[in-house]
Amino acid sequence: MKFEKLIHKGNKKDVYLVDGTAVKVFAKDYSKTDVLYEALNTARVEDAGMPIPKLLSLGVQDEQWYIQSEYIEGTTLAELMEKKPKEKDKLLEKMVIYQIDMNKKSNPLLGRLTDKYIRLIEETDLDSNVKYELLTKLSGMHKHTKLLHGDYSPENIIVDKRGHFHVCDWVHATQGNASADIARTYLLLALKSEEDAKKYLKIFCEKTGTKESYVQEWLPIVAAAQLTKNRPEEKDLLEKWCDVIDFQ
Ligand SMILES: Nc1ncnc2c1ncn2[C@@H]1O[C@H](COP(=O)(O)OP(=O)(O)OP(=O)(O)O)[C@@H](O)[C@H]1O
Ligand SMILES: [Mg+2]
Repeated sequence: MKFEKLIHKGNKKDVYLVDGTAVKVFAKDYSKTDVLYEALNTARVEDAGMPIPKLLSLGVQDEQWYIQSEYIEGTTLAELMEKKPKEKDKLLEKMVIYQIDMNKKSNPLLGRLTDKYIRLIEETDLDSNVKYELLTKLSGMHKHTKLLHGDYSPENIIVDKRGHFHVCDWVHATQGNASADIARTYLLLALKSEEDAKKYLKIFCEKTGTKESYVQEWLPIVAAAQLTKNRPEEKDLLEKWCDVIDFQ
């Protein structure tokens, strides 16, 4: 395989266009377990019946693991939103519609959201009382088994020339409560634009008859989980959101 035509340059992962397919190539020191997990998780999302870029193969070349999947010609939703700001509201609405459809699917073999968040909260450097509050809050949330993307943001949505959405990057997919995934997307949007995040939440709540406070209950939990990424520029905002008392 020739890794020449770069589509995306990431920190530890680059995506190339190879013979009409997309090949995600991982750095030499990338954990093999994480690559295999990403491939397995993606296949499980396919098994759940999601029309995603199909996984074609995985392997190793020059000591680098790679995952090959169908290539989707288009631009990311993030690029499109930047190019066409007037269409932003419509595109946020399409994001919600896709997500509602996704939440109708499920696969019992996917990892559970609750287990993942327990692990992440325990991993943070937060004060032990705050951790306890967050874990108590998490254990009180309704347990569902809906398909959740876990990183549903405009960077992970490819829009083809007919305007159809194709979602990639399913490594964080789990089964659980849809509001957690909405809160996670709210957070990802808010880290760039609080205005977009608020609009997105409003659209979701209107379309599904959900109270905004029901989704907001999840914010301290998803914010704590995001702290494990150790991004200094996000720290202040995330710690503010972790303050459980604010949302009671
Ligand atoms: N099947 C595909 N078809 C077309 N483009 C793709 C495909 N898969 C990924 N891409 C492009 O590559 C980008 C990065 O892919 P992906 O989201 O899977 O990696 P990532 O894990 O987010 O990488 P990093 O975190 O290092 O940025 C996507 O935003 C998209 O632009
Ligand atoms: Mg991505």
